[in-house]
Amino acid sequence: MTELPDSERTFVTIDLAALPRDFLWGTATSAYQIEGAVAEDGRSPSIWDTFSHTPGKTDSGDHGDTACDHYHRWREDIGLMRRLGVNAYRLSIAWPRVVPGGDGPVNAKGLAFYDELVDGLLAAGITPSVTLYHWDLPQTLQDRGGWPERATAELFASYAAVVADRLGDRVVHWTTLNEPSCSAWIGHLEGKMAPGLTDLTAAVRASYHLLLGHGLATQAIRAAAPDAKVGIVNNLSTVFPATDRPEDLAAARRHDGHVNRWWLDPVHGRGFPADMREVYGVELPERAGDLETIAAPLDWLGLNYYFPAHVADDPAGPAPHARSVRRPDVPRTGMDWEIDASGIETLLLRLTDEYGARKIHVTENGSAFSDVVRPDGSVDDPERQDYLVGHLAACASAARKGAPLAGYFAWSLLDNFEWAYGYDKRFGLVHVDYRTQARTIKGSGHRYAEIVRAHREGSRKAA
Ligand code: IFM
Repeated sequence: MTELPDSERTFVTIDLAALPRDFLWGTATSAYQIEGAVAEDGRSPSIWDTFSHTPGKTDSGDHGDTACDHYHRWREDIGLMRRLGVNAYRLSIAWPRVVPGGDGPVNAKGLAFYDELVDGLLAAGITPSVTLYHWDLPQTLQDRGGWPERATAELFASYAAVVADRLGDRVVHWTTLNEPSCSAWIGHLEGKMAPGLTDLTAAVRASYHLLLGHGLATQAIRAAAPDAKVGIVNNLSTVFPATDRPEDLAAARRHDGHVNRWWLDPVHGRGFPADMREVYGVELPERAGDLETIAAPLDWLGLNYYFPAHVADDPAGPAPHARSVRRPDVPRTGMDWEIDASGIETLLLRLTDEYGARKIHVTENGSAFSDVVRPDGSVDDPERQDYLVGHLAACASAARKGAPLAGYFAWSLLDNFEWAYGYDKRFGLVHVDYRTQARTIKGSGHRYAEIVRAHREGSRKAA
């Protein structure tokens, strides 16, 4: 066990020796949430530009027009990563910057931005982990039907080929999709994210084409960059029935199917879960060979974990007819999400035991709280520090029990545009003053740096 400097509030020991020596210690962001510069250098609008500029869709009408201005400040942001001591960075590429028409001509300036960014990261000793799709579909493709249409999956693979062709000589770690369940379910069924639809048929078709796009893009990346290590990132939840009534047990099984199995089974060659096909009652737009494409063997799996789900039967509600139950008297983040660090350990072990994962990266994990900016400008965030340390301890415990955990990416490097919640919810290890764009490393950032350093020193001594 490696003892860490204790915070004033908690004492948690992280079994850092359980993590491999070449562990990727990273932070994560996504393009629309931080870049800004939405109309610069040939970028076209994405579905999130449209959604966030539609009255009533985001808190206070917030949008990503400027966000953290990372498009202009990326050198400073790499400097922050260096100060944190991380050796990896998960970023996403904006499709509408690189192929503004969705298909057709490549925008040289858009591609050049990421090219320079990757070079800057490598020069700083930071390994880039590149995500191709973090929800910012070119609006022009939405106008042609978006993810419910097969053509979108095919065009996604063409765009993936363009990016892999340009960056594949330097980028090893590739993610096709970030959290496709949010794109499909929240974007097309719940309507709370772009494109804002509430249509079960569209949602199920979108889910199918997202996974098909993942499979086709995997092929395209490997064709362009034979050394690429390709993965997919899912946000998974532990799921508990609200009571032991048989109806709630069945609802928990359906919710697990909706948020977990629907996304894991097909990429592991098990097809789409039969019970969930029945629950949705929507015909899948299947063609011969698709399931094999979707199930292309992966080099690693990405896990995003934030909170557990407690659910009850909800026969009159939308599919999957399971509603979340808010438990009283449990700790919560500023998102009102229940805090349960044991969930990340459970899911890492589930991916290992049930799905035979050979390598896993925790590609996101983090918490939003209201930060206190002190008169001296420092930012104290004891609750975020507790969340971070508690979840890292659970990750290390899973690794000790055999989970092949190879990296952890804290969400997020910076406070940023939290989608429909706007700028009010702050997940950053680094505080952003949106008036001045001043960045300040929070207490949690300093704590993370201590942990990274402790692991590095422990590994060196053990060598
Ligand atoms: O900010 C998001 C991110 O874009 C996707 N995963 C969850 C984060 C926190 O809500």
